[in-house]
Amino acid sequence: MKLKLENIKMSYPGKFTLNADLELNQGEFHTFLGPSGCGKTTLLRIIAGFNTPDSGRIYLDGKDITDLPPEKRNISIVFQDYALFPNMNVEKNIGYGPETRHWPKDKIKTRTSELLEAVELPDYGKRKPDTLSGGEKQRVALARAIAVNPDLLLLDEPLSAADEKLKGALKAQIVETHRKNHLTTIYVTHDQEEAMTLSDRISVFRKGNIECTGTPQEIYFQPKTLYTAKFIGQSNILKGKVLNIGELVEVECQNQIFKVQNRSYQCSAGDMVTLFFRPECCTASQGKEENILLGKTAERTFYGSRYTCSVKTACGIIKVYDTYPFQLQGADCQLAVRPENIILFQ
Ligand SMILES: Nc1ncnc2c1ncn2[C@@H]1O[C@H](COP(=O)(O)OP(=O)(O)OP(=O)(O)O)[C@@H](O)[C@H]1O
Ligand SMILES: [Mg+2]
Repeated sequence: MKLKLENIKMSYPGKFTLNADLELNQGEFHTFLGPSGCGKTTLLRIIAGFNTPDSGRIYLDGKDITDLPPEKRNISIVFQDYALFPNMNVEKNIGYGPETRHWPKDKIKTRTSELLEAVELPDYGKRKPDTLSGGEKQRVALARAIAVNPDLLLLDEPLSAADEKLKGALKAQIVETHRKNHLTTIYVTHDQEEAMTLSDRISVFRKGNIECTGTPQEIYFQPKTLYTAKFIGQSNILKGKVLNIGELVEVECQNQIFKVQNRSYQCSAGDMVTLFFRPECCTASQGKEENILLGKTAERTFYGSRYTCSVKTACGIIKVYDTYPFQLQGADCQLAVRPENIILFQ
């Protein structure tokens, strides 16, 4: 189903205001990413019908559902705090949706066991929620949400209580559910890697507003705002002054001239700008590229799958990844950054 949020506004008096305009395609896997308190849960609750917006409309496949109560919107939500029915055992929790829709008993039983297998809790059917760990509750909540094949699936940090290994299995389960049913899904997370690996598109939130929406690649390599650039991944951010604008924009930063691909920036010579590029865009220079930076290696930090190294240059400290074999602290090094890998912000 297609989802359209049109001019949604909602305030908690004196505290917080949410504004949202967003369209999701049929079958899209969309992630809300943003710091704590920026309104992700509030917007999910509005979509599900548990919060009423002050203004704006919500459309599901063109139908206005703004005034429908939650039970009339075939939308499933996995709440951040699971919200399992405490008086019902696991089986009953999962079978709740099918039961309210009057599925035959044997079909409910088959669906419940299938889902218990899928979330790796095959023997948990008779247990009550208060006997489950956080991760187990989350899995039951996920199974309950997908039991009825909803039109729209909303997941509020559904993996936050799972350990790394279980996360992998549950992610696979979410992806499979999504693909199999071509289910339009909104996923809320703090985990950038989860957002990057799962999503068709990501919306980055900032203080109640959607700052930026795009594919993971767009958000990561061509962020539209400096906030998005800084919020996701690691970045190199330098201040500079525009010297010249042509096919390449020339920017001076501490006597170093950077040539930057011109993305129709609205800047003029003399403007102060911010340059942004990712650590992995710094490569070892062969001496002939544009934007060669000379420096000395400083600190090196181990991240498991890679090292991050800081290189002291005339423009300041530049972060690079392990593509360059800096083993020794204080070693001379020569880096290059391609013009198309640098973004300017005014
Ligand atoms: N019922 C409420 N009454 C008053 N303020 C609220 C209420 N619910 C949420 N808020 C406030 O609205 C803001 C947004 O909250 P929300 O739960 O949407 O954030 P979030 O992005 O989901 O954060 P987190 O990542 O921590 O879950 C916060 O400042 C929160 O304190
Ligand atoms: Mg939340």
